[in-house]
Amino acid sequence: MKWIYSVSLAVSLAMQPALAETLPGNHPMTEQARDAFVNQLLKKMTLDEKIGQLRLISVGPDNPKEAIRDMIQKSQVGAIFNTVTRQDIRAMQDQAMQLSRLKIPLFFAFDVIHGQRTIFPIPLALASSWDLDAVKEVGRVSAYEAADDGLNMTWAPMVDVSREPRWGRGSEGFGEDTWLTSEMGRSMVQAMQGKSAADRYSVMTSVKHFALYGAVEGGRDYNTVDMSPQRMFQDYLPPYKASLDAGSGGVMVALNSINGVPATADSWLLKDLLRDKWKFKGITISDHGAIKELIKHGVASDPQEAVRIALKSGVDMSMSDEYYSKYLPDLVKRGDVSMAEIDDAARHVLNVKYDMGLFNDPYSHLGPKESDPQDTNAESRLHRAEARDVARKSIVLLKNRLETLPLKKSGTIALIGPLADSQRDIMGSWSAAGVAKQSVSLLQGMRNATEGKATLLYEKGANVSDNKGIQDFLNLYEPAVSIDTRSPQQMIDDAVAKAKQADVVVAAVGEAQGMAHEASSRSDLIIPPNQQRLLAALKATGKPLVIVLMNGRPLSIVNEDRMADAVLETWFSGTEGGNAIADVLFGDYNPSGKLPVSFPRSVGQIPIYYNHLPTGRPYNFAKPNKYTSHYYDAVNGPLYPFGYGLSYTTFTVSPVKMSSPTMARDGTVEASVTVTNSGQRDGATVVQMYLNDPVASISRPVQELRGFKRIMLKAGESQTVTFKIDVDALKFWNQQMQHVAEPGKFNVMIGLDSVRTENAQFNYL
Ligand code: NOJ
Repeated sequence: MKWIYSVSLAVSLAMQPALAETLPGNHPMTEQARDAFVNQLLKKMTLDEKIGQLRLISVGPDNPKEAIRDMIQKSQVGAIFNTVTRQDIRAMQDQAMQLSRLKIPLFFAFDVIHGQRTIFPIPLALASSWDLDAVKEVGRVSAYEAADDGLNMTWAPMVDVSREPRWGRGSEGFGEDTWLTSEMGRSMVQAMQGKSAADRYSVMTSVKHFALYGAVEGGRDYNTVDMSPQRMFQDYLPPYKASLDAGSGGVMVALNSINGVPATADSWLLKDLLRDKWKFKGITISDHGAIKELIKHGVASDPQEAVRIALKSGVDMSMSDEYYSKYLPDLVKRGDVSMAEIDDAARHVLNVKYDMGLFNDPYSHLGPKESDPQDTNAESRLHRAEARDVARKSIVLLKNRLETLPLKKSGTIALIGPLADSQRDIMGSWSAAGVAKQSVSLLQGMRNATEGKATLLYEKGANVSDNKGIQDFLNLYEPAVSIDTRSPQQMIDDAVAKAKQADVVVAAVGEAQGMAHEASSRSDLIIPPNQQRLLAALKATGKPLVIVLMNGRPLSIVNEDRMADAVLETWFSGTEGGNAIADVLFGDYNPSGKLPVSFPRSVGQIPIYYNHLPTGRPYNFAKPNKYTSHYYDAVNGPLYPFGYGLSYTTFTVSPVKMSSPTMARDGTVEASVTVTNSGQRDGATVVQMYLNDPVASISRPVQELRGFKRIMLKAGESQTVTFKIDVDALKFWNQQMQHVAEPGKFNVMIGLDSVRTENAQFNYL
């Protein structure tokens, strides 16, 4: 639907006809028309107005709304973020459209990472669904709700491949695999931007963090990245490229350095690669305060130098610092930055505003005042059914001894654990405009499921952590985690008393959402010790023990896994999380999720990822040998491998059938398997296809995901799944940094996880 700009604006437009061409109009949505329009507009702009376009301001204590309005009027701001109601946004847009000289509309952005009002599972959980339709659903609903709040842009998707579970931000990404992350990122961009970012219910995406943020050393946030070009191009860059090829209008620049150069100062990255090679036409935005940080990175001696380097390296818009506005005017006067460079950056900002349709209708995502929701948090604005559907698909069943699950909706069930009744934690980090009291905790979800059928007992059993330092860290900015004042032993005793009355114990343990967030790196991956003690006490009751994990990273849970009869990985599952988990616990939904990350046995195994290179001395489980690559003090390999996840039914996979033993140069070949649901229940699973190039000019990974299909099979049903393999699937970056497919033998592995596969071969001619 197309809205007509407000009456007050129409009046001011009528009074200033000379400016009519920059004001709402009927500009065709073509690149040619856009370029002509923006060039004309640039000619009318003063240097200060151009520099104003490069400033992105975050509304907050440092920049209260009132101060921002004054800056808008003076054309000192190009875009705003962290404002999420139509009223606030309209007031600011009114300032720009009524009082600024050229009446250039602002755009409004926010971190819509896994939902806006309705919170979906965190991205790591979405990746566990291996379901691109589900991801698109999340993208569409999130964009709808964000656009309905007046937003034009989101800082998403985050496609930083990460093999570093200590890094808290892995929760915002799609796991350790390049292919899966690329597919997820592409789907998210397509869904959020829709046919056009200018559409009423689309938002423009800003893929982040360009580049390689997921590879920060030691998993310590904001830390250094040092990487070979081969690994960079083979494993870490493709997801950004996939999101850009899908049309993402924005790129957020990473905070880390790459091989010594901060991304914010990296003209190779932002110009040579992004613009010249990848032909990116959209906007680059620094991450929060990153231009200032160039001084601390040690590549700029003072603010002027930081600004000069960032702009010349290709950072168009500065997020949340005043450096561009403060120092660019002088830099231009001194000739250190050229007007052409300012024009380029301002052009990129104006281009995306054009692409967002803002020059046609600056209120396109706002509509008339009368259409504003009376209550921004109204229940009617949520998409609960979609959230529940996606959350169920993202849950991974890790263990199910003697079919402990699904539970019966009868008898007595004890639900214990610090995360069982937390509406805040279940939403996860970056939960945008989501409201905790609208989310369904696990306790509520299980109550809904068992009402009138079973007796449900509840006890907290432990705080998330007993460590005062960690409690303070989690509650630094908001009272996010409530701390029970009972003694730890008392809490355990109370929980054990309930457990003893029950037929089965469900323990909701893991991390608070704040433990898997930006700046939430951990040096260990354990479940906090006080929660471990709780689990041991519950186990000692002799009751069947179901562990429901809530967490934003793979955890090392060897002991807990041993104790538990069943383990369900639920990540942070969003507004409808409690209902979705209950659906799985009671068998109303048959779990189908698969891990997008390997689960290390201990922190010492990191990095541990499935697509590693072979070594000259591989460890052999069957014939252990001292002089092989392994840790002598641990079982080798992950506790749970990449791609792994169980179901309440069983599936079998037939041997692989190749359409031909050879693949012609630049041709294709097909690999097929027949998957059968050999169990008693209907269920979905994910068929995964991996390739391996056993002899090449450089060592190639032991396996790499190159295709997957999620299929639904009724009990007893079979389906043939075919993967088409083309030359791109065989290509890699060789020592000379050429992207090549080398002739020779290739191994094909197809299975329901990365370990148990059916194998075949073909020859690439
Ligand atoms: C900093 C984070 O690194 C980035 O991901 C986020 O989008 C911005 N802050 C804005 O909130």
